[in-house]
Amino acid sequence: MKLNIALLAGDGIGPEVIDQAVKVSNAIAKKFNHEITWTPAITGAAAIDEVGEPYPDSTHEICMAADAVLFGAIGHPRFDNDPKATVRPEQGLLKMRQKLGLYANVRPTFTFPSLIDNSPLKRERIEGTDLIILRELTGGIYFGERGRKDNGNTAFDTCTYTRAEIQRLAKLGFEMAMTRSKKLCCVDKANVLESSRLWRETVQDMEKDYPEVTVSYEFVDAVAMRLVQWPSSYDVLITENLFGDILTDEASVISGSMGLMPSSSIGVHTSLFEPIHGSYPQAAGKDIANPLATVLSAAMMFEDAFGLKEEAELIRAVVNKSLAEGIVTEDLSGTNKAYKTSEVGDWLAKNI
Ligand code: IPM
Ligand code: MN
Repeated sequence: MKLNIALLAGDGIGPEVIDQAVKVSNAIAKKFNHEITWTPAITGAAAIDEVGEPYPDSTHEICMAADAVLFGAIGHPRFDNDPKATVRPEQGLLKMRQKLGLYANVRPTFTFPSLIDNSPLKRERIEGTDLIILRELTGGIYFGERGRKDNGNTAFDTCTYTRAEIQRLAKLGFEMAMTRSKKLCCVDKANVLESSRLWRETVQDMEKDYPEVTVSYEFVDAVAMRLVQWPSSYDVLITENLFGDILTDEASVISGSMGLMPSSSIGVHTSLFEPIHGSYPQAAGKDIANPLATVLSAAMMFEDAFGLKEEAELIRAVVNKSLAEGIVTEDLSGTNKAYKTSEVGDWLAKNI
């Protein structure tokens, strides 16, 4: 099969972790006789430096022409402490989500048998956890009207959702639940927010189309608690953009390291695959960051964008083997030897 992939390494550790995913993907291509064409493109702070904006049109064209986008990370500290910066790397990510129509962000959380004791949560709480948070990605407070009034002394951000936006996200949630344990949780704050009441109303109306799915409606504050109390009680959760942002960082703790969880963003145009972690600037260039979240994002890409399940399964199996054998970066090595980012990538490619 011919795979045409846009490669957006981005900032910080992005280029290093992306390199490992490329090594692993090329090893897969060799083994299964696929032909991958990687087309690199700039984003984030790197793109601001080069052309003055974080998601230039040239990058968008490359993404639109590709079958899938593999993405590293975005963000640079020199913008974080400058509230007056007019261009920020993160704007590139938001623009990319919007222009590619990536309205659904799929963030799985699962445990690895050999890493259960790395989690700060107790083994008996997290064993068997296998959930998916489906986060709405192109609406809500991230994209609503915002501004200042009162001579700059009052600021506002608005959360707006249309019924159609909620329906298309919820539809994916119901469909995903049908292929899993048929349990769907709609996360909202309907006791306070009008937009949440529209979410609840819309999802309730859709229940009749999916009679086999059991839907629960839970407030986001309670979910934040239960997610670390009994994560294995959840299966598919659907939620709006900001709640999803917060809950997915929280959920990543369950697996034991932020460096482990992959994600996909799907929607109208090309799908995008990326680790859920950020650009980790303190580690940039040191060859110490955990590449597994990006490698597992590549596995998601093989399966979801190209229907290549066997290829994806092999990547996951080799990742599990590396964890079991302790071929891991410093975030997971404990008192044992820590391997470099590039060494983990080499090991995975060789074992494929
Ligand atoms: C994420 C990130 C982004 C978000 C930032 C970098 C804009 O935290 O992908 O979760 O808030 O969506
Ligand atoms: Mn986030």
